[in-house]
Amino acid sequence: MDRLKIKGGKQLNGQIYISGAKNAALPLICASLLTDEVVTLTNMPLLSDIISMNALLEQLGTKIESRDEIIDGNACKNYTYLTKEFSSLVAPYDYVRKMRASYYALGPLLARKGYIELSLPGGCAIGARPMDIHLSALEQMGANIEIKNGYVIASVDKRLKGTHLVFNIASVGATCNVMMAAVLADGITIIENAAREPEIGDLAAMLNDMGAKISGIGTSVLRIEGVEKLHGTIHKVIPDRIEAGSYAVAAAITRGKIELINAQAETLQTPIKILRQAGVKIEEKPQSIVVDARGCKLVGQDLMTDYYPGFPTDLQAQFLTLMLTAEGASMITETIFENRFMHVPELLRMGANINVHGHASAIVRSVDKLYGAPVMATDLRASFALVLAGLIAEGETIVNRIYHLDRGYEKLEQKLRSVGADIERINNKEEE
Ligand code: EPZ
Repeated sequence: MDRLKIKGGKQLNGQIYISGAKNAALPLICASLLTDEVVTLTNMPLLSDIISMNALLEQLGTKIESRDEIIDGNACKNYTYLTKEFSSLVAPYDYVRKMRASYYALGPLLARKGYIELSLPGGCAIGARPMDIHLSALEQMGANIEIKNGYVIASVDKRLKGTHLVFNIASVGATCNVMMAAVLADGITIIENAAREPEIGDLAAMLNDMGAKISGIGTSVLRIEGVEKLHGTIHKVIPDRIEAGSYAVAAAITRGKIELINAQAETLQTPIKILRQAGVKIEEKPQSIVVDARGCKLVGQDLMTDYYPGFPTDLQAQFLTLMLTAEGASMITETIFENRFMHVPELLRMGANINVHGHASAIVRSVDKLYGAPVMATDLRASFALVLAGLIAEGETIVNRIYHLDRGYEKLEQKLRSVGADIERINNKEEE
């Protein structure tokens, strides 16, 4: 298994290109299942989660072609998806186990073929993450749902029926899945308390380009008028706001200056506000964000994760790590997932001063120094937090289990090296 070796103490300066958003790309890939015409996705990040999702679609019968392309100076991928016929209506355990976003096959298959067997994803490192909202909504739309041998077996006679749904939680996954089901349903579906994350807006925009009729995009009430058929399209994936936020913290924690090319400031308003309150200078440009922490003395900030446009849970671990370098105490509260402080014990091993209260809050106090150590994390964002700690630690940090990082951060070590970090990937073979 590969590891990252980081020698801390370098100030990061320069420019980083922000890739296409993983959490937009994954449902967009599945949305291609809704049509028998070609869907082309551009600005696709090269990540292991994308490769896993492509493998699932190929297993279902999709023909996929990929091409390298350069968008705004950044090398990325362009994929075409064509699902004329399905060779299987099963999303097997082996695919879902690797990547829970495989559950995005549920809405499209039920809508287009009226049947799917989907392995239930189960819990993961950050929480229980049930699918009850997805399943209950589809049931209300007329689907028969059965759970058998770890699988959801969902079927519908003829078409799903549009209905009025009220979500008890503004779930990102349920909003995407139900929206993909509703675009081909008979009649009008209303989703109240829909999630408003920008990735949902991106999915809705592409579905509308394919002939869907979705309104209320960006609000918590979505109205979806079902149509009989969707057609192909070409769609450019939005930039990854979580990747941008993560590198913004890399600039801040090393007291450097990084311009995040292609980052969209409007999707990061709450994290930007916290960084400014802490003392970091941020310039919002039409095509980039400049994060300048040179010579800054940061002041600790309290923050609480929330649904968009609140503070993203996917940036909690990174901001918590930044607060170790800010004066005073910061209270970090996690409200979305019940087990998302798994980075804390590893940070403690590097000399951090953090007290976790129950599962929901952590008090972070500033420390003079962190010390390099071998560390590992159990999820993607927690792993990035350990990289951040390594960037400022005295000595050498080895981050293990970096397959988590490969799921969500494209060319991580190249990007960090390009702004001055001393970081390299070691694979086990080199070490032997
Ligand atoms: C998406 O997960 C993202 N994943 C996550 O990204 C992100 O952390 C999360 O949204 C919150 O922003 C993808 O987009 C692929 P939810 P999702 O449904 O859709 C509960 C990353 O690092 N819930 O909005 O699974 C759930 O347990 C990650 O890139 C139910 O109770 O999140 C959680 O507590 C990890 N029942 C809360 O809602 C349901 O049926 C929000 O989950 C569905 C969700």
